[in-house]
Parts: sequence; C-alpha cells; structure tokens
Amino acid sequence: MKSFKNLCKEELLKERENLQKQYDNYLKENLDLDMSRGKPCKEQLDLSNDILNINDYISRDNIDLRNYGILDGIKEAKKLFADILDIDENNIIIGGNSTLNMIYDAIARLYMFGYMDNTPWCKLSKIKFLCPVPGYDRHFDILEKFGFEMINIPITENGINMDMVENLCKNDEAIKGIICVPLYSNPTGTCYSKETVERLAKMETKAKDFKIFWDNAYALHYIYEKIELYNIFDACKKYNTQDRILYFFSTSKINFPGGGVSILAGSDNTIKDTLKHLSKQTIGYDKINQLKTVKFLKNKENTLKLMEAHSNILKPKFDIVLNTLEENFKNNPILKWEKPKGGYFVSVDTLEGLAKKVVAMCKEVGVVLTDAGSTYPKKIDINDTNIRIAPSFPSLEELQKAINIFCLCVKIATIDKMLAENNL
Ligand SMILES: Cc1ncc(COP(=O)(O)O)c(C=O)c1O
Repeated sequence: MKSFKNLCKEELLKERENLQKQYDNYLKENLDLDMSRGKPCKEQLDLSNDILNINDYISRDNIDLRNYGILDGIKEAKKLFADILDIDENNIIIGGNSTLNMIYDAIARLYMFGYMDNTPWCKLSKIKFLCPVPGYDRHFDILEKFGFEMINIPITENGINMDMVENLCKNDEAIKGIICVPLYSNPTGTCYSKETVERLAKMETKAKDFKIFWDNAYALHYIYEKIELYNIFDACKKYNTQDRILYFFSTSKINFPGGGVSILAGSDNTIKDTLKHLSKQTIGYDKINQLKTVKFLKNKENTLKLMEAHSNILKPKFDIVLNTLEENFKNNPILKWEKPKGGYFVSVDTLEGLAKKVVAMCKEVGVVLTDAGSTYPKKIDINDTNIRIAPSFPSLEELQKAINIFCLCVKIATIDKMLAENNL
C-alpha cells in the first residue's frame, strides 16, 4: 500500500470507497470484540487454578489464620514478596486484594492526617501532582477525586522528562507527589532507566512531604524482554530520601485480578506511620488468601516460571497487534506506536484530532477500545491522538479481526481528515 501522502484526490476517494465497503461488511457481522481493558484471558487465569484447592490456614509460626490479627501481613508472604521485589521484609505491608485501593487509602491518609508531623493536605489551599502521560486512567481518577491539580509530564524513551520534573519540584511547594508505573508502564510499556530512578531519588523537592507513588504493577510482566528496574530503595538510601517512596505491587495479573494480594512498601518511618492509621481502618486483611498465595507461588523461582507461562500466552497476541500495525502502516506513516517490551498494552498515536473519531468508528462496528482521552488526566488529550490497545483478553482470532478493523478505521478517518483539510 502506497503512503496516502503520495495519492492524488481521486486516488484517495477511490481508496476511501473501497475501505468503506469493507467497513460496511463488518457492520453486518454484529461483532462484539473487546480490546478495552488489560484483563488476563481465560488461559492465563487457568494457570492459577491450583490455588483454589489450597485449604491451609495455619501459618509457619503455627498461628491459626482464620482469626483476627496480624495487621501487616503474615511473615511468609512478606518473605516471598521481599525476595521477589528485593525489598527488606520489614518494609513491607501485605494488604488486601487491590493496590488501587491501597493507593487510594494512602492518598486519603495523607490528605486527612498528613505524613508524620506534616500538615494534612486537606488543610492546604492547593495540592498538585505530576502525572506522566500517557498514563493509567484510574490513577488520574483518584487524583481528580481529591481535587488535586494534575500536571502532565511527557513520557520519554527512558522514563519521564526528568528536567521538567526536577524544575517543577524544586520550585513549587504545592507539588506533593508523582505517580509512576516504572516498568512496562500502562499504556506505553516504558521502562524507567537507572538514571531516571536515580534522579527521582536525588532531586530536590520544595515540599518536605513529597511522595513518589511507585506503582510497580508490571514488575514481572515481560513479554519480549526482561528488564531489570533499578531498585528505588537502593537509590533513595544513597540520598537519604527513603521517606518519599510509596511502593505498590499486587498479584492481580499473576494469579487472579481482584482475587490476589497487594503490597505496600516504604521506609521504616512510612511503615510505622501507615500502620498507625491502618490499625483504625481494619483489624487485618485476608490472611487465608495470603497463605494460599504463598503456598501457590512458593518462591521467586516458581513465580518467575508462572510469569513465563503468562508471557507465552500473551506474546502471540502482541505479535498479532504489532505485525498488523506494521503491515498496514509501515509505508504509510499515519499511525505511530512503540513496541513494548512487556506489560499489557500497545499505545498508538493517530494524526492530530483523530483518536476520538477512530474509537467511535470502532465502537459502531462492535470493537470496544478504551475511550480516547482516558490516558490523560481529566480525559483531556489536547491533541486527540492517543489510543490504548489491550490485546490480552480476546482470542487470537477475535484479536486479529479487531485489529484489522482498527487499522481500517484509522485509514478512513485519516483520508477524511486529508480531504477535509484539502491537504493534497
Ligand atoms: C498501573 C496499574 N496499577 C494498578 C492496577 C490495578 O491493580 P490492582 O488490581 O492491584 O488494584 C492496574 C490494572 O490494570 C494497573 O495497570
């Protein structure tokens, strides 16, 4: 296929007519295909079915876990996640089934009570947060709910625009935090380099109680390449800034989303401060599930084997998406994307002003994508270019059809834009 740029108006109109016919044929099929959320597929969920047969409830210290208690989590779970994530056991709290819930609660505690002796954020006239974009819609939704001003920070090849982050944090006391997905990030698949992690640890912040929300949701979720993330605790120890870390992780995409366990990790001060408040929120989380998780995952080595099995299921799906994009747009650069090394998404950018239209066209023909704009705070993508594709859930056949339709919609929307702008 020739680049649209090299076609005259008549050729474009002819191509448009041909594409419209294909679109109309798809319309007749009454399709119902979903590439909207990063959900594991059935084959991935089946990998963890054995966890359902584990009925133990006595801990390694002979504690009956059916009863109340152990607010910070059972020792064997702390040990397992300490090994997996290379964090000291004493700096880990094992929580309930969701990191998103933990992130929300952590923000709520800072908002209502403040960190240690610092002023609660609710008493300050303005709170600002730095938001790497494109990013995770549910993070932005939490920050919006609390009324924080969100400042977009562009994602770069090595993480985020650190010059911008450093300048802003150094000069503005109202900037209280940044929310990062440092590995195989949602949706761009970006991995933060050692330099980026180091600069986040080292940078000067005008706010004394500045927090880095380090949502390492995809810590183990490689597809094409295993990337070693520089340990933020090691980096912060060098500069004595450990108190700025709030580290999150869960087994949602290791065993069952919403049915796993989450962790919060932080400095000694952070763990102490968190437990002080947490003890008023709950008597303890679901320790039986914690034990089941440990018995199922066993150790780091076994967990990595399970992640390899996930990767083997996901890779052919990412191949379909990436190969189809390549076939359709390699010589016709009207869509941009990066090949992610892992994670759950492929992030693409249309020409300016087309993302909403493409998503709407896909929807009309029965292909559901995440709403355009969702990858930006308040759902405002000023250029209207970014679309998040989630290949994990559909079957290979469904996915191939869905991505073919997506490419078709991109082409139609682009031709319409070119014709409308008379850009020929
Ligand atoms: C970056 C990120 N954080 C958190 C979550 C949700 O995690 P949990 O199931 O532990 O609440 C997701 C889910 O897609 C995610 O992409």
